[in-house]
Amino acid sequence: MTTPKTIRVAVNGYGVIGRRVAAAVAAQHDMILAGVADVATDWRVAMARAKGYPLYGATPEHTRAMQQAKLDPAGALADLLDASDIVVDCTPKKVAAGNVERYRELGIRFIVQGGEKHAVTGHFFTAENNYDTALGRESTRVVSCNTTSTVRTRSALKRAGLLKRARGTLLRRATDPWEIHLGGIMNTLVPEPDIPSHQGPDAQTVDPELDVITMAVMVPETIGHLHYWTVQLTRDASKDEVLDAFRSSSRIAFIRMAEGLTALNTVKELMADIGRPHDNLYEVALWEDMLTVQGEQAFYAYMVDNQAIVIPETIDSIRALMELEVDCTVSIRHTNEALGIPFRTTA
Ligand SMILES: NC(=O)c1ccc[n+]([C@@H]2O[C@H](COP(=O)([O-])OP(=O)(O)OC[C@H]3O[C@@H](n4cnc5c(N)ncnc54)[C@H](O)[C@@H]3O)[C@@H](O)[C@H]2O)c1
Repeated sequence: MTTPKTIRVAVNGYGVIGRRVAAAVAAQHDMILAGVADVATDWRVAMARAKGYPLYGATPEHTRAMQQAKLDPAGALADLLDASDIVVDCTPKKVAAGNVERYRELGIRFIVQGGEKHAVTGHFFTAENNYDTALGRESTRVVSCNTTSTVRTRSALKRAGLLKRARGTLLRRATDPWEIHLGGIMNTLVPEPDIPSHQGPDAQTVDPELDVITMAVMVPETIGHLHYWTVQLTRDASKDEVLDAFRSSSRIAFIRMAEGLTALNTVKELMADIGRPHDNLYEVALWEDMLTVQGEQAFYAYMVDNQAIVIPETIDSIRALMELEVDCTVSIRHTNEALGIPFRTTA
């Protein structure tokens, strides 16, 4: 029996995405979490230490501040990068772009998240679409939560030869739950000023053949996004054919109004009850009983957990860049097994 290769992964930025990526890396059989770096010295990084993750300051100054806060840092980011094969940069929008020159100088492979511009890596990643083109690359960008869900669902219809064009309205969460106290809209809805909103064109950067137009509105809640879609099919189809197309993705999960999953909070509560870390919903949760097909048109809605949907994609992007696995279906299977995807509500 051969021992699988293991690689050491650094996570820079231990916020909403970073702490979920760190936990997901630690759950994989072929990856070791080398450590996490941040600028903070509060409860968030204290929790990283409590979980046994080696902690690093973003700079020597941050490391000293961590020492003063008795967080027992293992060193600074430079030490972490020295001890790692690859780094996942989960720092805030635009901060990651400022780090990539350093990664390039050190010759360490790197992944950035959806807040960065395409030009930062010149490559975007969604596991089911372009794993192959990421193999052995220096870097990639995991696309945003909305783009991941749009591409995941539209590609399933495309693979089945059913997709002609898609038009969607996105109800976007106002802010992330842990920072509600810092701001966010209340008692109003805020339409995005432009039609199409940027999410449609973003999806087209991943697959230029997608005929997709989106409109978006910010809503006063923090649980996740809700997408409503009208899809023009290539031909008359049955509801079962459309559902079968969605079944071709292991990361699209069906939920049912009839089972009491009637709102975003109920789905999130189900994730808590299943025991997912941070109540993560990694899948696109699509209402099976709501989906309607009339002739050549399909109508459906799904929930996107913006904080969680990109986590399995990030894990697959690590395997692709490191060429840990050349077959995307094998990587997806490993990631899914480690994260319990898709979720089950039956024994
Ligand atoms: N929050 C979401 O729903 C979401 C979804 C998909 C993609 N993204 C993308 O993921 C990236 C990270 O977003 P987030 O929501 O996790 O942000 P966040 O603000 O929750 O976390 C960022 C973390 O980085 C730390 N940090 C700040 N400056 C740093 C520096 N110079 N060096 C090291 N650490 C530093 C912060 O202290 C914080 O812990 C962004 O590109 C964002 O667009 C976010």
